[in-house]
Amino acid sequence: MNAMMPTKPEKKRFPHATVIVLAMVLLVVLLTCVPYLVTIALAQGPAQRDARDASPIFGVIIPEGYRQWELIAPAEEVAPLNELRAVIGNKIAINAYQDGKLPFSDGTVLVKRAWKRQQSPDFASATIPGAATTVQVMVKDSQKYAATGGWGFGRFINGKPVDEAQHRTCFACHEARAKGHDYVFTRLAP
Ligand code: HEC
Repeated sequence: MNAMMPTKPEKKRFPHATVIVLAMVLLVVLLTCVPYLVTIALAQGPAQRDARDASPIFGVIIPEGYRQWELIAPAEEVAPLNELRAVIGNKIAINAYQDGKLPFSDGTVLVKRAWKRQQSPDFASATIPGAATTVQVMVKDSQKYAATGGWGFGRFINGKPVDEAQHRTCFACHEARAKGHDYVFTRLAP
């Protein structure tokens, strides 16, 4: 009986050790996988979009749900463009406008929607939006876009970005005329 004593705990210790080793292996596997899983989860959103949907130079995309954003101000462009425009912004943008806060904080997104000016078929003197022309986007990220006043630009036609040459013009004009207002032309409509 006494001779059996040392073997019993020995037998018990073995499965114990196996469980511990298994647990450790599991832990290591989990710890190795978690960063990958997180990366995959985070990449889900942008991954659904095509890389070709991002603007050249800046990699700006049309923001999700922008059609529901609040109006900052309308604008109108005379010939040859003949457009009606509406500048809208995300919540961060709207808050900054309401507080009169400049410069705009990182995360600010401004969108300019534009349509051909069209005479109303119902009322001669009324002008209504015709075909949509461009969607233009400005995204504030002071680090990423440090070279262009903290703004990334995107101009889209039918959901696709226009060429790089056009994207080279954005900051120059905004800088020349709107530098004193954090490179943004549009003021909150009274
Ligand atoms: C020649 C000048 C000029 C160029 C070039 C230009 N913009 Fe603008 N942008 C304006 C003006 C003026 C406004 C004010 C609204 C309006 O009149 O349409 C404006 C407004 C905007 C707005 C709304 C926020 C604001 O500043 O009022 C966005 C977004 C925008 N532009 C994006 C772009 C992008 C993207 C490009 C390049 C592809 C670009 N712009 C090139 C003149 C310019």
